[in-house]
Amino acid sequence: MRGNEGNPEVKGIILAGGTGSRLYPTTVAVSKQLLPVGNKPMIYYPMSVLLLAGVRDILVIGRPTEIPRFQELFGDGSHLGISVSYAEQAEPRGIADALLIGADHVAGDPVALILGDNIFHGHHFSSTLQEATRDPHGCVLFGYPVPDPERYGVCETDADGRVVSLEEKPRHPRSNRAVTGLYVYDHEAVDIAKNLRPSARGELEITDVNRHYADRGRARLVDLGRGFAWMDTGTPESFLQADLYIRALEDRQGVRIACLEEVALRMGFIDIDQCHRLGAERSGSAYGKYLLSLAL
Ligand code: TTP
Repeated sequence: MRGNEGNPEVKGIILAGGTGSRLYPTTVAVSKQLLPVGNKPMIYYPMSVLLLAGVRDILVIGRPTEIPRFQELFGDGSHLGISVSYAEQAEPRGIADALLIGADHVAGDPVALILGDNIFHGHHFSSTLQEATRDPHGCVLFGYPVPDPERYGVCETDADGRVVSLEEKPRHPRSNRAVTGLYVYDHEAVDIAKNLRPSARGELEITDVNRHYADRGRARLVDLGRGFAWMDTGTPESFLQADLYIRALEDRQGVRIACLEEVALRMGFIDIDQCHRLGAERSGSAYGKYLLSLAL
């Protein structure tokens, strides 16, 4: 496989563990991140975000019982021109725990961490991501306007987009900007996570990592804005909304969202022949036919 080097300096992590308790009983035997959204496994969406950012070395973290399922999905990633490895999170100890589990993988490089149940879609996202990961200079967060900020980590910025306050699920939010589940950090994030104390609920909070950067004037927020879609799929309602959104857009436009082979092709991680081979292997499915149509 040839082509684009991507961004070899930046490592990727997808955190895809958790209990998915709000989707009980659907998530008893199956990881939330393996459930289908718009006819593909949910984890395809965060994986596509990392690829669009140019990240080619990706660690998937999941519950021990589910690692073999993720391995079946992605293997070593070589068919997509990337490298995928795996690590277990035995208990959901918090999002910042991903930086400890992934410390060896990150190995002193910058890192893009994304939650396995977050779906991002919108215009120019690829260039926004590549700009953010090129040189994070501290940390880059992505903000999204929501009607119910008290349910989220909420961010306030100055006129230059520098983060001035971060609050976790505040009773009286200072802004309507939720911090989404995509975090880009420079090489210091793992050391910051190593020095965290668990919160009252016993978790290593990612907001504490972000606040560490913000307190030093080194956290920046990129506003995704109202023309953009950010969805988390944690509740039955938000799950259904995400599924309908993706299906409506795919049907209307005739293109697929988060088709990993297509993203890899566009990024230059694989060539047309490889895309054709992957499509031919699955030509009995609509997905395979779509890959073949890309390779014409
Ligand atoms: P959450 O939605 O906070 O947790 P969950 O997915 O277990 O669902 P529920 O609240 O219904 O029990 O997690 C957001 C994402 O982060 C999701 O993809 C799971 C992942 N996650 C982990 O993998 N490990 C963790 O320790 C935490 C807190 C989250």
